[in-house]
Amino acid sequence: MELFRKKTVEMIEDETREGQPHSLKKALNWFDLILLGIGGIIGTGIFVITGVAAAKYAGPALIISFVIAGLASAFTALSYAEFASSFPISGSTYSYSYLALGEIVAWVIGWDLILEYAFALPAIALGWSGYFTALLHSLGINVPAQIANSSFAAAGGVVNVPAMGIILFLTWLVYLGIRESATFNNIAVIFKVSVILFFIAVAVWHIKPVNWHPFMPYGWHGVMAGAAIIFFAYIGFDAVSTAAEESKNPARDMPIGIIGSLAVSSILYIAVVVILTGIIPYKLLNDPAPVAKGLEYLGMSFGSGLVSIGALVGITTVLLVMLYGQVRIFFAMSRDGLLPAFFSKLHPKHKTPYLSTWFVGIITSILAGFLPIDVLAELVNIGTLFAFLLVSLSVIILRYTRPELNRKFKCPWVPFIPIMAILFSGYLMISLPIETWIRFIVWFIIGFIIYFTYSRYNSRLAKLQQ
Ligand code: ALA
Repeated sequence: MELFRKKTVEMIEDETREGQPHSLKKALNWFDLILLGIGGIIGTGIFVITGVAAAKYAGPALIISFVIAGLASAFTALSYAEFASSFPISGSTYSYSYLALGEIVAWVIGWDLILEYAFALPAIALGWSGYFTALLHSLGINVPAQIANSSFAAAGGVVNVPAMGIILFLTWLVYLGIRESATFNNIAVIFKVSVILFFIAVAVWHIKPVNWHPFMPYGWHGVMAGAAIIFFAYIGFDAVSTAAEESKNPARDMPIGIIGSLAVSSILYIAVVVILTGIIPYKLLNDPAPVAKGLEYLGMSFGSGLVSIGALVGITTVLLVMLYGQVRIFFAMSRDGLLPAFFSKLHPKHKTPYLSTWFVGIITSILAGFLPIDVLAELVNIGTLFAFLLVSLSVIILRYTRPELNRKFKCPWVPFIPIMAILFSGYLMISLPIETWIRFIVWFIIGFIIYFTYSRYNSRLAKLQQ
């Protein structure tokens, strides 16, 4: 059936070989990949969303929410690692499903990943802008209300200029090339991890167990709703897989990058949340800068300022990784003919998909300038969970349909681990509000219209098979 036409592993090996007109430069080692992962993971989730998740949803039991969302991510990371090490191709889940499940499913996933990455960018940029204006305020510089917020976010706001500005600045970095972006990312990640370690080291001595009572003020329902929201904090390790084609030794380094970055981030998260809920009553955490607020509560203003700077830098790298990931997904879909050729055109000197980079940067900066972002952030979660579910399913299917493939890294205990990933992700999806589901479905209706009017006829695979 033509809707389920599949690419072959051989085709993929062929088109990604260095020197091919559409192949990307291989510049990243395992350390770059771990830092790329941490760069994409630790950001708005821990520095911003933790506050509302503790105060309004889970209470101190946010610790359990973090563990549940972390397990969903960990089970899925093993499937990602299997795919990314076996098929070093740009495009992540989209490309894997083109092999395992066929074109229409690949389209669904590609369209879904656009939901994840492109809408994450404006949401995160708004978090960045909040910290940025707060920091300027503490230095005595007040950004005028009209340009500090959009009209949806605050009365008197018109357009969020800092959010737009940071996206455009990072677009320029990504345009310059992968090596330059990775260097910037590496320095920034080392700084943000140091700031988190600093928080842990100074705050751990001030835990008062009384703050953990009541532990579950909103019951199990609150813990799950908290997990569905805080899941946002873990998104990003999957973006490592979008860099597979630019990795020097993907067979070995992809699993290290994906699993390593998730492991480091999870340990830091659990430590921060245990300490944060232990140093300050959870109700006081309802603040856009909860981690800084924790230190402020202890009277450590200097530490609080430092955490704010760390958050700002941390959120910057998340934006960088998301931008990078989105461009690579467009690149892969365009190379396959499912999107116009414009998206995979490489810069003659920088060897980056420059037109697509600017396209993503400009569109998402406009969204960041004007749109109400909370709604979009929930969409990001549902989109990512759906991708997790599909990648786990693809691992199981491909084990049965192509058992002979040379898998450099194998997810252990298949199908048990992927099934656990599917159950955890599915459960988190149904813990999200109904409005989010409706928007999610509408997004896919638009996607199907594009597929059936454009992509299906322009697919490279379709042309090859004629
Ligand atoms: N995990 C990323 C963050 O927390 C998306 O900002």
